[in-house]
Amino acid sequence: MSEVALLQIIGLLVVGTGVGILLFIRSKFLRVGGFVIIVLGTFSLLALGVPQMASLPPAIETFDITKVKTPDDLAGIGQKIFFSKGQCALCHSIGPSESARCPDLKGIGAKLSPEFIYESLTEPQAYIYLDFRHEGVPKEYPARMPYIHKNPIALSKQEIYSVIAFLQKMSGEPISIDVDDVLKMRDRDAMTVAAVATHGAAANAGE
Ligand code: HEC
Repeated sequence: MSEVALLQIIGLLVVGTGVGILLFIRSKFLRVGGFVIIVLGTFSLLALGVPQMASLPPAIETFDITKVKTPDDLAGIGQKIFFSKGQCALCHSIGPSESARCPDLKGIGAKLSPEFIYESLTEPQAYIYLDFRHEGVPKEYPARMPYIHKNPIALSKQEIYSVIAFLQKMSGEPISIDVDDVLKMRDRDAMTVAAVATHGAAANAGE
């Protein structure tokens, strides 16, 4: 039996005792006590009825890059990274969005070559893209494209090329990133690629 269920049974016993006192005992003093016990017991029962939540740090998903066989596998990993560890979706939308603070990346894999996208991610200041989606002179975007290979996002080369594969795939382009080339890249420790789930898991402490 879980801890919460045990406490709930104790609470019910306490409330039951209070009700018993009110029903069967005449002494005023004890009846007041019985009433107090009922109020306190009910309060504890209500409190125990509230779901117990514990927040855990975000789970890290790792992918073994050696298991990647096709460009589609690579794009699948890239998609996870785009929406989690890479934080791209914090700024970019895929498709028009009123709230997006940065260029819409829809079709970007068809517009830009993989080399240019790689440069956009790792040398974001080399060529600054301005916001033309309004009347008048183009403006700078309110945010800055971060250096994706440096802290805090710090994607490895393999991770960056997975994201580029995803950008090509979602633009309806054939993926031109070569899986074997990506397998050979080891700028950092590992042959693993990681995506961090954006939402921490919630656990019910009662389970
Ligand atoms: C903090 C906000 C922010 C994050 C996070 C971010 N970007 Fe950007 N990105 C921008 C801004 C602003 C620009 C436009 C200015 C520029 O070109 O430097 C841009 C430009 C780009 C461009 C060039 C677009 C063009 O049409 O030339 C690409 C490609 C791109 N980002 C991809 C990504 C990817 C992939 C990620 C995740 C790995 C990412 N961005 C994360 C803000 C961001």
